[in-house]
Amino acid sequence: MTEATKPIAIASDHAGFALKESLKLALARWGVAFEDLGTHSEASTDYPDYAHAVATGVVQGRYRLGVLVCGTGLGMSMAANRHKGVRAAVCTEAYAARMARTHNDANVLCLGSRIVGPGLAEDILKTFLDGSFEGGRHAGRVAKIDA
Ligand code: RB5
Repeated sequence: MTEATKPIAIASDHAGFALKESLKLALARWGVAFEDLGTHSEASTDYPDYAHAVATGVVQGRYRLGVLVCGTGLGMSMAANRHKGVRAAVCTEAYAARMARTHNDANVLCLGSRIVGPGLAEDILKTFLDGSFEGGRHAGRVAKIDA
């Protein structure tokens, strides 16, 4: 399996469940392979459990990228960013998603279902998936994040 054909991982807590489900439809429409790591209902859950599952899979190389959805995206990003090698970015519009990929080599996108609606979230996700790291002057800076 090449890097490009690896699936992405997507997960949410209860607050992000509905948005996760709608983003899965978009991923399927775009032909992007993904694995859903939960949650599978709107029953109350703890967001760090899902953030750690996605972050672990990304760091281990099982997934090309990760997508995490909670109410704000914030708790998910805090938990995911505890993993060395994870660069999780909360994005509320497409410009930040593009910069997160091109400049920061972000490998996990965090979305807040109480902040962005499904249409905007789709745009953000598409931009994130289509982006790629520019390297060059950004490479050394990104390397310093984990230093
Ligand atoms: C759940 O109510 C909410 O706190 C959670 O989804 C998330 O927004 C935390 O950062």
